[in-house]
Amino acid sequence: MAKQEDQFKKVISHAKEYGYVFQSSEIYDGLSAVYDYAQNGVELKKNLREYWWKAMVQMHDNIVGLDAAIFMHPTTWKASGHVDAFNDPLIDNKDSKKRYRADVLIEDYVAKYDDKIEKEVKKAEKRFGDSFDKEQFLATNPRVLEYKEKGAAILARMGKSLENEDLADVKALIEELGISCPLSGSKSWTDVKQFNLMFGTKLGASAEHATDLYLRPETAQGIFVNFLNVQKTGRMKIPFGIAQTGKAFRNEIVARQFIFRQREFEQMEMQFFVRPGTQKEWYETWKESRLKWHLSLGLGMDNYRFHDHDKLAHYADAAADIEFKFPFGFKELEGIHSRTDFDLKAHQEFSGKKIQYFDNEINENYIPYVVETSVGLDRLFLAVFSNSLQEEELEDGSSRTVLKLPAVVAPNKAAILPLVKKDGLPEIAKDIFDQLKFDFNVTYDEKDAIGRRYRRQDANGTPFCIAVDYETKDDNMVTIRHRDTMEQKRVAIADLKSIIDAEVNMGVWLNKAK
Ligand code: GAP
Repeated sequence: MAKQEDQFKKVISHAKEYGYVFQSSEIYDGLSAVYDYAQNGVELKKNLREYWWKAMVQMHDNIVGLDAAIFMHPTTWKASGHVDAFNDPLIDNKDSKKRYRADVLIEDYVAKYDDKIEKEVKKAEKRFGDSFDKEQFLATNPRVLEYKEKGAAILARMGKSLENEDLADVKALIEELGISCPLSGSKSWTDVKQFNLMFGTKLGASAEHATDLYLRPETAQGIFVNFLNVQKTGRMKIPFGIAQTGKAFRNEIVARQFIFRQREFEQMEMQFFVRPGTQKEWYETWKESRLKWHLSLGLGMDNYRFHDHDKLAHYADAAADIEFKFPFGFKELEGIHSRTDFDLKAHQEFSGKKIQYFDNEINENYIPYVVETSVGLDRLFLAVFSNSLQEEELEDGSSRTVLKLPAVVAPNKAAILPLVKKDGLPEIAKDIFDQLKFDFNVTYDEKDAIGRRYRRQDANGTPFCIAVDYETKDDNMVTIRHRDTMEQKRVAIADLKSIIDAEVNMGVWLNKAK
């Protein structure tokens, strides 16, 4: 646990030191759970957004994009159920006066069973060596099965109580499990209450005539209210999807864990409209497709798992999370929800406008069903960033800090480094910079010894370093160094573009997601 915490602290300080993420309004001591993306962070975030956009919109002839406004008519949120039901169950500890999400306290308790299971696996791995079959062990080991059963029973009870609004039972569960305040260790809890997560604001020039608005808590509703506009103007035929990325706002009660849970964050959502009755099939298709997309970034299958929901949101008939192994354990990265016709039907009812689709293949009018994929861009950023940060022992006994970002999303693709700051080498390096800048984000660095500059670029996550030396003046060749292998090769300046492109080209990476 302490090791995990240390690693997470390293992630946070590295993100600041290398210009990825800053606390918002830091000079005023910051604003809780609000962050700014710095010079490198903004590039990584933009690349991740583009990687998603291309996979969803460019690569599907039946998915189109949208950029709906953050402000929406207030009735939107009545129709969507957010005014009445977008609540978190909160509980206060009477001694520490700290406020918690009751469901998160219980989920964190259950996560301890996962840790125990992992320990059992590690022990068995050691015992059985090469003959160890992890899958079989997980499916048959009595202790593992007992932990799984206990965890599932607790989550099932919590899910049921929350669904039935039985908050007294949620409190009873916390007490029965002996959950204590992580801060004070006290088990003295208040009753569980519901707390609406939407931020309110006002539209209008004077207080008396102002209209109450909400900052959108999800981007999805901008898609639903535009369903007919897009379908008609784009002449879209079901099944089809609408994708959008943008800011969402939630007044999170427990806002910690850095950019994992923020009050202002960015979502990348896609609503896929399907014929009623086919939603389960599409739900499975999108689950698989989204996992493949994540895997294409190369962080490894061991870091992902599905978590099927016991407690369904008010709009869903099936839901699963793709969870990622963050430095603080497996947590939700993306949600895939079969949202039925709940949203379109509700908007039809509240607006009084017919929202239907005529399906000429079956000669029927209907309200389409929806399968949604929804990933948090900030969480994706944290997943990629934290997994990439590594401390490596080198053969000569020294160590290096290296940020092994997938090259396709790295902020800078190459750093161009003249060996010395004189004798015409900077001019050649700047000339290379000017040639490459049309195709890639590249950076120029002439300060400090070349070894230190290599280390700096390793820690910055730059996949290639290009060193210009005296020989370059004669042979027009440079040394290209690969961040991950540290391998160095002599190549012609004229070949740089194609060498870099082969490793950072989005099309090549996206092909892996097929
Ligand atoms: N439209 C469906 C929806 O909003 P959600 O599970 O509440 O579903 C989707 O959110 C994704 O948005 C989550 O999987 C997560 O990645 C991201 N997300 C949600 N709340 C967040 C927060 N407070 N900070 C950062 N990301 C968040």
